[in-house]
Amino acid sequence: MKKINVGIIGGTNGMGQWFARLLKKQGFTVHVCGRKTRLQINDLTSLCNVIVVAVPISVTADIIRQVGPMLTKDQLLMDLTSFKKEPVKLMLTNSEAEVIGCHPLFGPKLKDSSGQNVILCPARGKKWLNWLKAVFKRNKMAVWEETPEKHDKMMAVIQALNHFNTITLGMALARINITPAEINKFSTPIFRTKLDIIRKVFTESPELYLDIIKGNPQTEKMLDIYEKAIKDIRFKIKSGNKVKSRKAIKKAAEKIYGRKD
Ligand SMILES: NC(=O)c1ccc[n+]([C@@H]2O[C@H](COP(=O)([O-])OP(=O)(O)OC[C@H]3O[C@@H](n4cnc5c(N)ncnc54)[C@H](OP(=O)(O)O)[C@@H]3O)[C@@H](O)[C@H]2O)c1
Repeated sequence: MKKINVGIIGGTNGMGQWFARLLKKQGFTVHVCGRKTRLQINDLTSLCNVIVVAVPISVTADIIRQVGPMLTKDQLLMDLTSFKKEPVKLMLTNSEAEVIGCHPLFGPKLKDSSGQNVILCPARGKKWLNWLKAVFKRNKMAVWEETPEKHDKMMAVIQALNHFNTITLGMALARINITPAEINKFSTPIFRTKLDIIRKVFTESPELYLDIIKGNPQTEKMLDIYEKAIKDIRFKIKSGNKVKSRKAIKKAAEKIYGRKD
């Protein structure tokens, strides 16, 4: 394959910037653009054989619609969005380029991404898939090929339900009148770990977490299950029937971690 130039729309910050660093470290030429950069989207499409969409979720669809028609079938159009079904569909309908949906399952601040999961959703063409897999594998990441549907279904649990749970815990803590000094004095290691997670979600990029919760079509279903689980275990604990509560937790543990017979 001839010299590979990669253009990252949204490469000035966050995940796009992380991907730019990874590619540069591997010797690829990378051009980035944001809203205020000298190079703009049309410059990237004429300079690069690979175009990566790494902008906030709220503008991803518009950017794909804008960049897609500028590409030819020899180029690769890919994205780093936290959802896959909608962006992959849009990339396919708005361009004739090869298309791969991609979701690295970690944030840009993680110091060492080796061992982390990356989901790929190859959607059109075969020419670029091995190149992209090798980019991640060189950095010892675990690369998985999945359908966009399966990816989004799993993200309803791993991200939407999980982040919602963190947000509700944070909101409840904020309603209780305890000072930061009291929290520090009385907190346990597990509680400190949870506080760190709440701080990350509440301070680093709340819009991203809200977009992830709001935008997943399975979120409502997950939150119904979550509400039922809260009501059910609350009722069991309140009833004072220890055997029933313990049984419920044991059954849930077996489902999550498998049976230990
Ligand atoms: N952060 C994470 O933990 C994470 C993890 C995995 C996947 N993702 C996905 O990565 C994507 C980006 O998220 P992020 O957290 O990296 O966002 P971010 O830190 O806010 O960075 C967004 C980038 O997009 C650029 N941008 C914003 N609006 C633009 C526009 N209209 N046109 C061109 N560029 C624009 C910004 O540049 P300027 O401000 O310079 O314009 C910046 O470079 C999202 O799809 C997200 O789902 C994020």
